Amino acid sequence: MERRRELFGGRSAAIFALAGSAIGLGNIWRFPYMVGQTGGAAFIIIYLVCCLLLSLPIFLAEAIIGHRTQAGTFGAMEQLAPGTKWKWLGLLTVVSPLIILSYYSVVGGWSIGYLWQSVTAGFHASDIGTVSSAYERFISAPWRPLFFHTLFLLGCAAIVSAGVKSGIEKFNKISMPLLFVLIVLIMCYSIALPGASEGVAYLVKPDFSKITPSAVAAAMGQSFFSLSLGVGTILTYSSYIRRDENIFVTGLGTVAFDLMFALIAGFAIMPAVFAAGIKPGAGPGLIFETLPYIFAKMGAAAPWLSAGVAVLFFVTIVFAAFTSAISMFEVGVAYLVEQRGLSRRRATVLIFIGTWLLGAVCSLSFGPLSGVKIFGQTIFGFCDMLTSNFLMTFGGLLFVLFVGWKMDKSAVRDEFTCGGTARFNCAVFDAFWFLLRYVAPPAIVIIFLTNFLA
Ligand code: PHE
Repeated sequence: MERRRELFGGRSAAIFALAGSAIGLGNIWRFPYMVGQTGGAAFIIIYLVCCLLLSLPIFLAEAIIGHRTQAGTFGAMEQLAPGTKWKWLGLLTVVSPLIILSYYSVVGGWSIGYLWQSVTAGFHASDIGTVSSAYERFISAPWRPLFFHTLFLLGCAAIVSAGVKSGIEKFNKISMPLLFVLIVLIMCYSIALPGASEGVAYLVKPDFSKITPSAVAAAMGQSFFSLSLGVGTILTYSSYIRRDENIFVTGLGTVAFDLMFALIAGFAIMPAVFAAGIKPGAGPGLIFETLPYIFAKMGAAAPWLSAGVAVLFFVTIVFAAFTSAISMFEVGVAYLVEQRGLSRRRATVLIFIGTWLLGAVCSLSFGPLSGVKIFGQTIFGFCDMLTSNFLMTFGGLLFVLFVGWKMDKSAVRDEFTCGGTARFNCAVFDAFWFLLRYVAPPAIVIIFLTNFLA
């Protein structure tokens, strides 16, 4: 039986959903630090160039496959290259987002835990050591993180099972504007703090001497992760975009929102870090150690304001994580619904169970399972390394090779230019084709090798 596919309502719905996938923890906990450490404004320019010349073509390659076939990753490959080994790419990109989702949900759960604390008790530590040990205790105690991981994943399941339009589209349409309003409010607070200007300078002062080849590779890697490339999420969401929609414009819109959010997040975080007189950092430590300490410190002068901002901040993080996580969840659900004939509800339950189990093991790898090591890493660390360093880049490379070297050029052109009707797209098609075939593949190999050697 042919089931009618649900589609996003229009262009803004598509951009909100894609931007929702892109804007996540990567924008908040990695980008600001990278900018500060790697040349400020100079890095921002390099990053912008990487986004436009490298990540956008890769993004469009994935989007073209999804939009053309109107199918999930596996079905798309079966349609475009039936009976070939390309179906393994379809399968790989069902599995890799689910692995990411499993550990992403653990961190999403921690964020809910910290949101809960910011609402109920607030942060009052007098020194950063106390905050750090509270964080260590929280993530290593088995039950509480498991509880919040479950809560986070249940939230994702509820949204995804409601469907593409009434679940995913609706949630992103509310969350994305909310996220922007919140992060701008936090930025205003942060920049107004006494001593904030040093943090602003940290982000904008251009230092071209820091633009080394490895900084460029790092910028490429970050734009890859931030735009959710190579794991089938862009492909799957694009398959829900209406046939008459211009995917080039959708792609540009997504890249613009993602970059804008990352920049605002930088100005929301770094000025506060400097105002509190601590060293900037990245990763979970920034969100769960540095920030709570800042809120505690600022709380001494203005308790209500600081407590309010803390709540807003964790709401922002939780929502940013949700909008990304549901895009990974949907890849698995689309596969089970389209290829295995399951109902959406059943598919949601199965994906929930699978990712809950792997996520639970990841969560416990900070406590009872901390002794279990894979290639010298905890289970959580291994899943993170495997996906962000290898599977994402590998998937991205194969998507690019598929569209650039295997698909019919006329089909790609047709998709890129809306059947020849979009004049601007026609004018830039050759540039896109060149970037896709000759620039993206070696660039991805460089990111891959950099990750490998790092
Ligand atoms: N882009 C998301 C972030 O910045 C992460 C992500 C990766 C989401 C892969 C979906 C797929 O946090």
